[in-house]
Amino acid sequence: MVTQYIYGVPVETFAAVKEVEHGKELPYFSWEKDMTFTCPLGKEDIVYGLGETMRGINKRGARYISFNYDDSRHRDDMPSMYGSHNFIVVDGEKTFGAFFDTPAKVVFDIDSAGDGLLSVACESSDLRLYIVEGGSAYSVVKEFLGIIGRSFLPPLWAFGYGQSRWGYKTARDISRVAAKHREAGIPLDYICLDIDYMDRYIDFTVHKRRFPKMAAYVKMMLEQGLHLVPIVDAGIKVEPGNAVYEEGVEKGCFCKNQDGRDFQAEVWPGMTHFPDFMRETVRAWFGSQYRFYTELGLEGFWNDMNEPAIFSTESRKKNAPPDAERGDPDQPGRHIADYKDFFHRLDDGRRISNYKVHNVYGAMMTKASGEGLEKLLDKRYLLFSRSSYIGAHRYGGIWTGDNESSWRMLRQNVYHMPSLNMCGFLYSGADTGGFGGNTSRELLLRWLAFSVFTPLMRNHSAIGTRKQECYRFRGTEDFQSIISLRYRLLPYLYSEYMKAALRQDMLIRPLAFDYPDDEKARRIEDQLMVGEGIMIAPILEKGVNGRIVYLPEPMTEVRYSGGSFTCMDVGAGERTAMAPLNTVVFYIRRGKLVPVGKAVSNTAEMDLLDVELLGSGTSYEQYVDDGSTKECSLDRCVVRRP
Ligand code: GLC
Repeated sequence: MVTQYIYGVPVETFAAVKEVEHGKELPYFSWEKDMTFTCPLGKEDIVYGLGETMRGINKRGARYISFNYDDSRHRDDMPSMYGSHNFIVVDGEKTFGAFFDTPAKVVFDIDSAGDGLLSVACESSDLRLYIVEGGSAYSVVKEFLGIIGRSFLPPLWAFGYGQSRWGYKTARDISRVAAKHREAGIPLDYICLDIDYMDRYIDFTVHKRRFPKMAAYVKMMLEQGLHLVPIVDAGIKVEPGNAVYEEGVEKGCFCKNQDGRDFQAEVWPGMTHFPDFMRETVRAWFGSQYRFYTELGLEGFWNDMNEPAIFSTESRKKNAPPDAERGDPDQPGRHIADYKDFFHRLDDGRRISNYKVHNVYGAMMTKASGEGLEKLLDKRYLLFSRSSYIGAHRYGGIWTGDNESSWRMLRQNVYHMPSLNMCGFLYSGADTGGFGGNTSRELLLRWLAFSVFTPLMRNHSAIGTRKQECYRFRGTEDFQSIISLRYRLLPYLYSEYMKAALRQDMLIRPLAFDYPDDEKARRIEDQLMVGEGIMIAPILEKGVNGRIVYLPEPMTEVRYSGGSFTCMDVGAGERTAMAPLNTVVFYIRRGKLVPVGKAVSNTAEMDLLDVELLGSGTSYEQYVDDGSTKECSLDRCVVRRP
């Protein structure tokens, strides 16, 4: 059961899609007039949720600040990330969920002082608060997912392996990356085009010399089974002659500064204007610009810099030190004041600073692009964004931004996945191998072995760091083997993703959700459930060749190496699972089946129905379609038996 409580006049965030009953008296929380909601926690209560925030799956013991931020120096104690996902689930003495639906800053203090207090301080007094009740933490989440609507449904090729790097400059660079993967026998479905494909980083342009004859190039790559996925940044370059800029100015599509002029902020292309995505007409206008790309034959996009990221403004110099007034003491280094300097006009006529609606800016960009692409294409598209808010999950996925090549960030990737799923974001993943810093062969192999199970599986890294395409390392066959496992598991992973999305369920869950009465399983954070049948226990440490795995019930242990599966039934309890670098070990639950397909070099070659079934179950309900139809429904499931 979901009940909503309205304070003030909330700004439309488009987070919920279902009518929800209004409650009279707010349960669980005491409410202070300064919009701080407090709730005592039981000693053993676990608090789930908060999507993209740092730290573990149990959010207890720290403070988290919802105020979208593009800090690329990811640390465990970072209070804010690129997205704000204000949904928490308290699981223990009382079990309930709470969604603080407000586009302004929210501070979640989840017992950081150890005094057993959960406090949620909302900066705005205009707020919609949803309370979700009924049964276990997992059923509370499912109830919530029902309210926020069905997840984005990407095409099958978006579940293939993707290669990306900031620094691919020309069509020749891209072709070389494709050829090298082919030579090494590494399957590949798409290559991302970072900002260098554009003419001076201007959105909706292609650099003529670097990518001559783009449409023909896109077509040629598609014939090889490869999609190209260009980046699109939020800011539109201020430059006479830039048609999108001129049209945007003329139609009044941009955010304004204090005195009513179009606000200017420096990002990659120099000075830009930010589209005022808060208005429907502006979203429709921006979404229609993607025609530029779809006419080139492109069907996948990553939206970036949409927190929005700002290097400098007319009134603040680049790299200006954040001073006491301008910086936020909670987050030194930020220029919070920039966001007080520009304004949106809402559809209800209100003029409001970005500071007050900051957390939905990126989500509104995703909504704009998703709705545009929906009109422009007669098939499903790939879209993932850096910034997000709950609701954007209906239009696209997200990636978790500029992480670094470290074991800590691999572990964080594991924690992020179930938390994001709780907030609706099923299609997500991290920069596999790490974005900043230099990766190592061992880290990349272990990271790939985990990414096999995340819907977005993309190797991406920053310019200036060690190049990390798999073919650059010794023993390429180990990389080939792990990536081929992804493809062999796709009949299962794709089917489980589509079923979870269509049923408004989670794909990746903490063990606690499937084994709520198992005290040990409830505290485990480095093992996850993937779909109905698989449990994974990724290796997250350097220099080890195995790990201890906890099995809440007897399962089938599956080892994949050298292109083949070896299955063994194992009992419940702790066991040591050895996994050399070229081996991936995972588990199939008792009574479940997992369909595995043939090795292929991309999804275009794949036959989802040509599978063998692993595990001890008697039947498997497999979702199957052509991978791109817009008409997706559970009617497309077929029953497979051994
Ligand atoms: C941002 C993105 C990163 C991208 C870079 C250049 O840092 O998060 O993925 O490579 O910009 O466009």
